[in-house]
Amino acid sequence: MLRALASSAQPKQALGRLLRMNSTGAKARGTLADKVALVTASTEGIGLAIARRLAQDGAHVVVSSRKQANVDRAVAELQTENLSVSGLVCHVGKAEDRQRLINAALERHGGIDILVSNAAVNPFFGSTLDATEEVWDKIFDINVKAAALLIKLVVPHMEKRGGGSIVIVSSIAAYSPFPGLGPYNVSKTALLGLTHTLASELGPRNIRINALAPGLIRTKFSSALWQDKTMGDKLMETMRIRRMGEPTDCSGIVSFLCSPDADYITGETVVVAGGAPSRL
Ligand SMILES: NC(=O)c1ccc[n+]([C@@H]2O[C@H](COP(=O)([O-])OP(=O)(O)OC[C@H]3O[C@@H](n4cnc5c(N)ncnc54)[C@H](OP(=O)(O)O)[C@@H]3O)[C@@H](O)[C@H]2O)c1
Repeated sequence: MLRALASSAQPKQALGRLLRMNSTGAKARGTLADKVALVTASTEGIGLAIARRLAQDGAHVVVSSRKQANVDRAVAELQTENLSVSGLVCHVGKAEDRQRLINAALERHGGIDILVSNAAVNPFFGSTLDATEEVWDKIFDINVKAAALLIKLVVPHMEKRGGGSIVIVSSIAAYSPFPGLGPYNVSKTALLGLTHTLASELGPRNIRINALAPGLIRTKFSSALWQDKTMGDKLMETMRIRRMGEPTDCSGIVSFLCSPDADYITGETVVVAGGAPSRL
């Protein structure tokens, strides 16, 4: 079969893909067949939904978060679905954890093609001017700086593969601030700046970078917004589609952005927010 393919008029990529499939022993199916993907903060919520979808579309996915028990649970759940998933602890704010994540992907899969930077924190609710220096530092360290430093680590490995795709999870709060979450809103706007800046720098290296801006998605992280009925109802009024989003609403678009179908798309932000106002 291989020889027949090699001597036929089939494109070289088809042969390459088949060879990769054989060398990993995995089933190479889907738009992300045999790509290697890292997804941070992927043991629940939006990150877990993205990890599952990338794996369903053929990628080998390394999931991660701060707690070993959460990693073990997420990996077990996805492996029972016959997906190619492994995991390890990675607190994105710790330099040694970020490096371990890269090393694990290289050791387990021999390279990195996709990074989804999804981790964020929000330790503060109140008036923006009441946020302390510690609050600003924590939010910017995790939400912005860690994303930039992780991207710095993956880029050389993507270059070795001839290119790659990065998706940064921002928020609709980047455009339309959530009340009481000032420093978080600002950090999410900063991620759009990071996306634009890096799109220019990484484009010539065949690495694309886009952002996802979810609206109100039903997760633990957003529960303070939707468990308060008055606030939840108020937010719902801004949505054209009158329901809250689910994590799976965010996953297909990320898979698309990482796929060859999006090969000419970089520096963009896709808003997944039920039509809530997000720009002009
Ligand atoms: N839900 C929404 O409405 C909404 C809207 C817009 C944007 N977003 C964005 O979507 C992303 C995911 O949020 P989510 O709603 O899916 O949250 P979630 O369901 O609460 O999940 C949070 C995940 O992050 C992990 N995590 C927390 N801190 C981490 C750190 N420092 N390093 C690594 N992993 C960490 C958690 O696991 P461990 O506890 O084990 O670390 C968990 O897996 C965030 O960037 C958030 O800003 C969410």
